[in-house]
Amino acid sequence: MAELLIEGSRRLEGEIKVQGAKNSVLPILASSIICKDECIIHNCPHISDVKATIKILDYLGCKTRFEGNTLIVNSKEISKNNIPDFLMREMRSSIIFLGSLISVMGSAKLCFPGGCELGPRPIDLHLDGLRQMGLLVNEGHGILECEAATSLRGCNITLSFPSVGATENLLLAAVLAKGNTVITNAAKEPEIIDLADFLSKCGARIKCYGDSTIIVEGVDRLHGAEHTIIPDRIAAITYMSAGAVNAGKLFLKNISKDHISSAVPIFEEAGCIVKFLSEDSLKIEAPSRLYANRLIRTMPYPGFPTDAQAPIMAMNTVSDGTSMFIENIFSNRYKHVDELLRLGADIKVEGKVAIVDGVRRLSGAKVKAMDLRGAAALVVAGLSAEGKTTVTGVNYLDRGYENIETVLCNVGANIKRI
Ligand code: UD1
Repeated sequence: MAELLIEGSRRLEGEIKVQGAKNSVLPILASSIICKDECIIHNCPHISDVKATIKILDYLGCKTRFEGNTLIVNSKEISKNNIPDFLMREMRSSIIFLGSLISVMGSAKLCFPGGCELGPRPIDLHLDGLRQMGLLVNEGHGILECEAATSLRGCNITLSFPSVGATENLLLAAVLAKGNTVITNAAKEPEIIDLADFLSKCGARIKCYGDSTIIVEGVDRLHGAEHTIIPDRIAAITYMSAGAVNAGKLFLKNISKDHISSAVPIFEEAGCIVKFLSEDSLKIEAPSRLYANRLIRTMPYPGFPTDAQAPIMAMNTVSDGTSMFIENIFSNRYKHVDELLRLGADIKVEGKVAIVDGVRRLSGAKVKAMDLRGAAALVVAGLSAEGKTTVTGVNYLDRGYENIETVLCNVGANIKRI
């Protein structure tokens, strides 16, 4: 198993090109099967979740090939409607194939995704909405068997929570359904808009409104398209935190100003100077000592993203003052806390609240990542700690970050993969 060996306390300075968004590319690749055609996807990051998605596409009968960061998916010969357990287990978000398979094959047989490292992740909202569209769902023995007896029919669906995955699955099922589907209280994360943009290029008729309503007018078929994945806002925030902990000065390109704007006040409150140089680049300059963020409350977009909670917490461990985190999205998203304590952080957790008292400095230790963004937090903390930090569980990091150690070493970090 790979480990990262980080020699901390080094100031980062230089330019980082941010990768394409993991949470955008995964549903877009899953949706490409609906086209039964060739799709060309640019800015596709080389991360293990993409590899897991490609394995599923290959299993279903697609032909895939990477050319640099462009992935070409040809789904003309798609022949299967099921995803076996070993492929479903590699990545919890493979549930996003449900809507696509139903659209293109009329049925789907998937293993139930179950819980994950962030706590229970039910799919009741996905299934409730799909049932309203006429899908017959049979659940038992850990298997989901779904069939649309006739074509799915558009209807009005109100989500009780703006679930990202449920919105995506309903969108995918609606593009070829008969009539109009109206999704109210839909998620409006940039990755949802990117999926809708891609599907629209493929011939779907989708309107996303700012009030969280999505209207999909079903069409008879989709065709292939060429699309560039949006920049990864969480990777960008992770690199900004990495720069901030040692008075760094970073220039980030391939970001989206719109998507990252809500995170900028966090860095400004911490004492950093953030300046957008264009719509897709920014400069961040951190002070010699950070101030604590008083309150970070994770919320659906445009609120503060739960995926950025862990790296921002790592940044706050070495700030002046006390910060409070309230994790509103996932019940088990503080697994990095015990590991940050090993590095000398001062954090107390009570339910969904974590109180971080900034310390003067962290000291390097051996720590174990237990989820993707927790792993990123340990890297940020390791970069700030005095001495050597060894991070195990690097497979989690590889799920979402493309060559993270190379990216960081290029701006002055000392990280070795062992
Ligand atoms: C997606 C992202 C993940 C991000 C999360 C929230 C991908 C691949 N993953 O995950 O990185 O952290 O959005 O922004 O895009 N819920 C239910 N019932 C459901 C569905 C969800 O109760 O049917 C609950 C979940 O348990 C969780 C909350 O809703 O507490 C948010 O989940 P959701 O928005 O669906 O997240 P994912 O799509 O799984």
